[in-house]
Amino acid sequence: MGDGNGDSNSWTYGEYLRLYDLLKLQGEGREISSDEMHFIIVHQTFELWFKQIIRELSEARGILSLNVVPEDKIPTAVDHLSRTTEIFRLMADQWTVLETLTPQGFLNFRDDLGTASGFESFQMREFEILLGLKAQDRVGSMDPIGTFRKLSKRSPEDVEILSRLEKRLSEKSLYNALMEWIERTPIMGSSIGDEGDEKFVSDFIRNHLEAYKMMNNESMKRLESNTSRDEIAKRFRVAEQSAESFLLPDGKIDRARAGLLFIESYRELPLLTWPRKLIDAFVELEESMAKWRHDHARMVERIIGRRTGTGGTSGVDYLDSTSRYRIFRDLWEVRTILVKPDLRPILKNAEFYSYSVDL
Ligand code: HEM
Repeated sequence: MGDGNGDSNSWTYGEYLRLYDLLKLQGEGREISSDEMHFIIVHQTFELWFKQIIRELSEARGILSLNVVPEDKIPTAVDHLSRTTEIFRLMADQWTVLETLTPQGFLNFRDDLGTASGFESFQMREFEILLGLKAQDRVGSMDPIGTFRKLSKRSPEDVEILSRLEKRLSEKSLYNALMEWIERTPIMGSSIGDEGDEKFVSDFIRNHLEAYKMMNNESMKRLESNTSRDEIAKRFRVAEQSAESFLLPDGKIDRARAGLLFIESYRELPLLTWPRKLIDAFVELEESMAKWRHDHARMVERIIGRRTGTGGTSGVDYLDSTSRYRIFRDLWEVRTILVKPDLRPILKNAEFYSYSVDL
């Protein structure tokens, strides 16, 4: 049955897609210019994509937060993330349609927007929370829940939005689900809970940190004649300290980060193929989001310059600072401390990571 629009067996194209309803929502009943109609359509298109993004990310989170993630489900999680990335890439390209709007063309109807702004896109806040963007990491202590709490006084729909966001906040984020899954990575053939696992992991970390130092020392040798030699040496020592506190925060093993380092270091091992593809999919997703945010800022700069936004932020500067958000921090940070293949700690229990064939 199709929502009272006829039987699903005999649906027309228009009924199936609910086009009769959908196409009445682009400023119908108001005398709007083609500029404004296009402004509405681009926003609505983005919001439809946001809806799909929330769905894809929820499904990926559903898979990764299982207590035991079946190996054959990882490709499905990767597919959900890859589709999300493609949507962000598509949306990043879509800003150019908006750039056909001249500054004057926008000023013609800007006053009608009042204080309405993309800042109030609750779907955007929902997927940011679902991904794992923390309130304290937002620019200028921006508080989305506070914004929607204020708006919730307006209508029952706004109350529903607030409770939807609060529910998301109380759930496990995709980032946490991912790191909990990575924590269970077998390191040097040893799994979490195995006898002696801590020793395997701490040896791996110590050996890796040694290798990292060695690599820095090699770089230092190459810079022997550099006049800022002392400064560079200091920088290397600071990098070594931060590598240590990344892997051993407060002197204790962080098994999830160690697992991440292990996957990134030995990424050619057959058993690590899907874990590394999954990690790559997250990195690609975050990169596509950052580029999308960046391109939004460039489009805004072109149309409104450095004006304050309709939502009351500093405008372009605010948007530019959001493009520096990194939700999957550890996935980025581990890149800084990798060593070249020759210097990696010797792999133990290599056979554990080969393909097994059931005969
Ligand atoms: C002429 C076109 C546009 C202009 C001038 C513009 C301008 C701005 C500005 C200045 C902000 C900062 C918040 C504020 O103070 O208002 C903002 C935020 C935002 N805009 Fe746009 N925008 C445009 C089109 C769009 C479109 C088509 C979308 C698609 C949904 C969009 C989505 C957003 C979102 C989600 C935010 C919040 C960003 C964040 O807080 O991280 N904008 N926009």
